[in-house]
Amino acid sequence: MAWYSLTVDVPEEHSELCQSVLQDHGASGLEVRDSANKTMPTVRAPAPGEAMVIGYFDDQADAVAAQEELTETMPSARFALEDVVERDWSVEWRNQIKSVTVGRLWVGPPWEKATAPTDKVCIFVEPKMAFGTGDHPTTSLCLKAVDGYLGAHAGASVLDVGTGTGVLAFAAKKLGAGRCVGVDNDPVSVELAKECAQENGIEGVELSTKALTNIEGTFDLVLANIVANTLVELAPLIVPKVKHRLVVAGVLVPQAAEVTAAYVACGLTHGSDEINGEWIRIEFDRR
Ligand SMILES: C[S@@+](CC[C@H](N)C(=O)[O-])C[C@H]1O[C@@H](n2cnc3c(N)ncnc32)[C@H](O)[C@@H]1O
Repeated sequence: MAWYSLTVDVPEEHSELCQSVLQDHGASGLEVRDSANKTMPTVRAPAPGEAMVIGYFDDQADAVAAQEELTETMPSARFALEDVVERDWSVEWRNQIKSVTVGRLWVGPPWEKATAPTDKVCIFVEPKMAFGTGDHPTTSLCLKAVDGYLGAHAGASVLDVGTGTGVLAFAAKKLGAGRCVGVDNDPVSVELAKECAQENGIEGVELSTKALTNIEGTFDLVLANIVANTLVELAPLIVPKVKHRLVVAGVLVPQAAEVTAAYVACGLTHGSDEINGEWIRIEFDRR
């Protein structure tokens, strides 16, 4: 079936009006790329201060009519009208999910089971509504820390705060952690993490939405891949759970000083950092 796409580059403040004109002319689908909706690396991004509004039309005449109206109302808009070759998105989105190898670990989607390496500790994560398929730089940075820590401290106890799919907790368990706890304030993530544990045949990881104050004991290794402002807020609750090492991620490089200061203020000693692209992993020790 033939489709037509009309791509309109407009100043960001005209984006909504542009969307409604495309809809009024019968666009059956709309895509918006702007400062709030980040662009996949494989597609063109809007110029700074601009939005790209893309309308999908069954009928080329409708797309042309929309362009004519927008030409009059938004003289600065730029247009591209194209035929869309139908693509099988159910297959294409899968291509976006990349498996990763980090130290002794391999994390990838279940459809790569047959080709997963036999000399690695493998974790299969079905991409659903929880964060943590392994291929995000923040997750990879944490997987590296888990691999390093468990390599040096067999049987260590591990707490994973903001567990998402459970990937970090499962990596720790598979690398020989002792007590292993994963918590997330999102109940959907916890349900998916439980499914993921089952699919990987992992037993004994305590997964729940428990608040940190309701978790008994302290942990040799505490992991928290969340976001900078939440990490700062949670510092007084996370620090008491740390017996030896804390690894935080989900922090952009310019946010590192503020996050580091929050944990040092709660009594931990700043250790090493590692950067991957725009992301930084920060480590702390209890001395
Ligand atoms: C970036 S994901 C990390 C997932 C996984 N640990 C990983 O490394 O890929 C952050 C997770 O933290 C959870 N989260 C956010 N705020 C939280 C809070 N205050 N307490 C517990 N979990 C939280 C989110 O629901 C999300 O699943």
